[in-house]
Amino acid sequence: MKYSEFYKRWQDNPIEFWKKNAEDVSWIKFPERILTKKNDYFYEWFSDGILNTCHNAVDKNILEGRGEQVAIYYDSPITNSKSKLTYNELKSKVEKFAGALRRYNISKGDRVIVYMPMIPEAIIAVLAIARIGAVHSVVFGGFAAKELAVRIDDCSPKIIISASCGIEPGRIVEYKPLLDEAIKLSNHKVKNCIIFQREQLSVKLNYGLDISWDEAIKHVKPADPVPVNGNDPLYILYTSGTTGQPKGVVRDNAGHLVSLKWSMKNVYNMNPGEVFWAASDIGWVVGHSYIIYAPLFHGCSTVLFEGKPVGTPDAGTFWRIISEYKVKSFFTAPTALRAVKKEDNEGKYIDKEKLKSLETLFLAGERADPDTVLWLENKLNIPIVDHWWQTETGWPIAANPTGIELLPIKKGSPTVSLPGYEIDILDDNGDKLSSNELGSICIKLPLPPSCLPTLWAADNRFIEAYLSKFPGYYETGDAGYIDNDGYIFVMSRTDDVINTAGHRLSTGAMEEVISNHSDVAECAVVGVKDELKGEVPVGLACLNAGCNREHSEICNEIIDLIRKEIGPVASFKKVAIVQALPKTRSGKILRKTIRSIINKEQWTMPPTVENSDVFDDCKIALKNFKII
Ligand code: COA
Ligand code: AMP
Repeated sequence: MKYSEFYKRWQDNPIEFWKKNAEDVSWIKFPERILTKKNDYFYEWFSDGILNTCHNAVDKNILEGRGEQVAIYYDSPITNSKSKLTYNELKSKVEKFAGALRRYNISKGDRVIVYMPMIPEAIIAVLAIARIGAVHSVVFGGFAAKELAVRIDDCSPKIIISASCGIEPGRIVEYKPLLDEAIKLSNHKVKNCIIFQREQLSVKLNYGLDISWDEAIKHVKPADPVPVNGNDPLYILYTSGTTGQPKGVVRDNAGHLVSLKWSMKNVYNMNPGEVFWAASDIGWVVGHSYIIYAPLFHGCSTVLFEGKPVGTPDAGTFWRIISEYKVKSFFTAPTALRAVKKEDNEGKYIDKEKLKSLETLFLAGERADPDTVLWLENKLNIPIVDHWWQTETGWPIAANPTGIELLPIKKGSPTVSLPGYEIDILDDNGDKLSSNELGSICIKLPLPPSCLPTLWAADNRFIEAYLSKFPGYYETGDAGYIDNDGYIFVMSRTDDVINTAGHRLSTGAMEEVISNHSDVAECAVVGVKDELKGEVPVGLACLNAGCNREHSEICNEIIDLIRKEIGPVASFKKVAIVQALPKTRSGKILRKTIRSIINKEQWTMPPTVENSDVFDDCKIALKNFKII
């Protein structure tokens, strides 16, 4: 069947389409209600179905005869170690850890934060939480204690699961001090922390609060999967919005399972028994969906990679892993491949003979720049597929559906809407734009299964952030257009979110942090172009009247503050002190113009600017601080 027929089949009868796909997963009770509309904003998928997500990821594979197949290949060039777990081994570890969680009184609906590096225990923890019907919230290791504390207060976990350390090139990231600090900063008090001691660093545990992983699983009774309703939450994953308060994206159990399972064959062209690799981090949505859940739902083997595309040990790591595990579909962020291309432009690490298993390379997280795509096409001679999605959706919105039909590739476009998504481009008044006209990319309600039903404990914020500007639509926050062939082009964000090395960050959150510096009167942070990371944040700060401290000293303090409050992942390394910020007469900071100046793009003096001299002063300051 062709993609267009598939899409039409969904359009003609969305309920029947998703009901049929739901038959592909294992239920304790098949749902009678496929889609329930609760009101104009809230919808639920498969709400009266009963199932268990962990059963579908683990036990089901064993029942279907895949017990001795590898479920997880762990490859950690940064620690020089490798291991594998079969589905039988994974089950035994997951049911044991689920038993340990039970022992510490975790039950259905309780929240558990997972703050762990890329080690198999992180996947075991996540699956064990799902097994007992609890709700996990994984926090990326590159965030600072304050960010962890915000998440602790928002989702009020009973317990946190962590490890002694993460490992970054050239340094060991000690998790324990960050965790202790976060617990101190948060108002909500967790009952316990389970700490996995890595051989690279053993840490002292806090008596009465911390339990070592090994202790927790000692003499424990394995736990069976707990039945949950289709609309019960499986996880909360925080993502950047326009303010310092991250949004807790909720994912339900059934919608997530059905969509992800469907995507494995239809988007990624995977079959059970084959090897899938998403080189991301379990702290991001790509890691949740395509390192952990989808490959396991589909009976594939997944690769858990702890390392970097370059430097661990070299730019050949990706290709070595693909050939060693015979990866069929590989998924990463363009930034990672830009790093590889920069280091090995000739492609001397690429031996096509050894990469025979690789059929398709998928890119997401940011716009796939045509240069990188072209380089990959030349070097690999396979389809390079850009696809577009968000933490909020959990699976692609637009992709080249390679398992249905490989559509012609247009560089710079993630191809077409997948079944489930009806996309319109709207102008600021909410009117539909024609082909090739740039506007807000919006998805008609209801959103398909797996997309967020709401934000954690923040229904009103959910409506305000996504549903209020364009009634009847979900506002993606991305701007772009659709061409005459129905290809979508995602060009930029419409809000203050930037994309740095495939990581989604809020410039608003950075401004909040900088404003807290005692010498800063006001500030602006904008995302500017970066050859490797796509975009990096740059700050401009005005100081309080009378402050005559060394500017370079204040800049270093601001950089340290962002690292301490948000984390190294913000990649915030550039800030300039200016006399005043360019503003409109109504007081709005002209961030877009500042960005154009830094990017050396053409810009025109905005007609509503209050004081045009400010631009000249800013330019001088940016030059003095070597930003332009
Ligand atoms: N724990 C602690 N610190 C972390 C971290 C983690 N899990 N991940 C990143 N950091 C730190 C880095 O060490 C670095 O610190 P530094 O300022 O002291 O050097 C900082 O955060 C910025 O990290 P990053 O943006 O990743 O830059 P990098 O120079 O280390 O690596 C790339 C650049 C492009 C190789 C890397 O960003 C990459 O592989 N990106 C792909 C991202 C991805 O897969 N995204 C998922 C979407 S599909
Ligand atoms: P995240 O929620 O962290 O996955 O980030 C989602 C955002 O990343 C999207 O809203 C886009 O702005 C951007 N993004 C992700 N994939 C793509 C893509 N293929 N093309 C363009 N932008 C993308």
